[in-house]
Amino acid sequence: MQDFKRSRRLRSSAEIRSLVKETNVHISDLIYPMFVVHGENIKKEITNLPGQYHYSIDQLKDGVQEVVDLGIKAIVLFGLPENKDEEGSEAYDSNGIVQQAIREVKKHYPNLLVITDVCLCQYTSHGHCGLVKEGIVVNDESLEKLAQTALSHAEAGADMVAPSDMMDGRVGKIREALDKNNFKHIPIMSYSVKYASAFYGPFRSAVNSAPQFGDRKTYQMDPANRIEALRQVEADIQEGADIIMVKPAFAYLDIIREVKNSFPMPVAAYHVSGEYAMIKIAAREGLLKEEESMVETLTAIKRAGADMILTYFAKDMAKWIRRNS
Ligand code: PBG
Repeated sequence: MQDFKRSRRLRSSAEIRSLVKETNVHISDLIYPMFVVHGENIKKEITNLPGQYHYSIDQLKDGVQEVVDLGIKAIVLFGLPENKDEEGSEAYDSNGIVQQAIREVKKHYPNLLVITDVCLCQYTSHGHCGLVKEGIVVNDESLEKLAQTALSHAEAGADMVAPSDMMDGRVGKIREALDKNNFKHIPIMSYSVKYASAFYGPFRSAVNSAPQFGDRKTYQMDPANRIEALRQVEADIQEGADIIMVKPAFAYLDIIREVKNSFPMPVAAYHVSGEYAMIKIAAREGLLKEEESMVETLTAIKRAGADMILTYFAKDMAKWIRRNS
């Protein structure tokens, strides 16, 4: 009788498993999100994002030092403004919180890649990602402000801008503004496929950006849609996006794979706040092993086709990789 297929031969020891392992997350795949606030002497854990901090500018250097020491190559900055207004004016203020943070980080760590989230929602009194006219989030009128925001980040020294607002045409407008102002070399990582997701909850309380009326469904994508994601990516590539992002990540592994297979582009995936918090809280309750759950999750995102992962676990994952390689 012919023997059956003995798959277990290649699973019999850690050594042999590592030999046939198909997917490894590298430290260079990780992008760490950081939150900056006005004020002094602030390094405060964010209640709804355990293990993550609000940093004032004077504390940022130490926070970033940790990241650099672990070998992480890139951070993405989010800011909480002093004041919000209808037009989100601190978003594009050359002395706004993110612009200050960029200058501070680049001064001390010129080689660390500083990526910035380009959006208005933290900065607008209504909490929407674009301008609001008569109760509607208006598209074309918002583009100028978004382009101004991206430009102000580049002027402050950002290495890459990442528009997350989901207005139509923003990638093209940002590209144009950067090109006109001697920033042809600055890449755009577009949040191309960004779903209207419940998993952004903890982030919105961390940056106080929940919409004050309505929701984001008129500009972010319907979680039910797959083909639409491809149209969205196509449009962003045409407008000049250099890196395509899919967000969230863990609930959208199929989309990551589809985008990766369909376009010859680098793909980023954002393992978002709610996806992170689920593991943290379940682990705190003793229901999951935190580290194993983290490694499995991030490996799955990489296996799905992500070339890079934005994750609140970046530091923990880097520590794990260092211990296990
Ligand atoms: C800003 C923005 C959001 C996130 C990143 N940029 C929130 C939103 O669209 O409401 C979410 C990140 C996370 O949940 O970790 N538009």
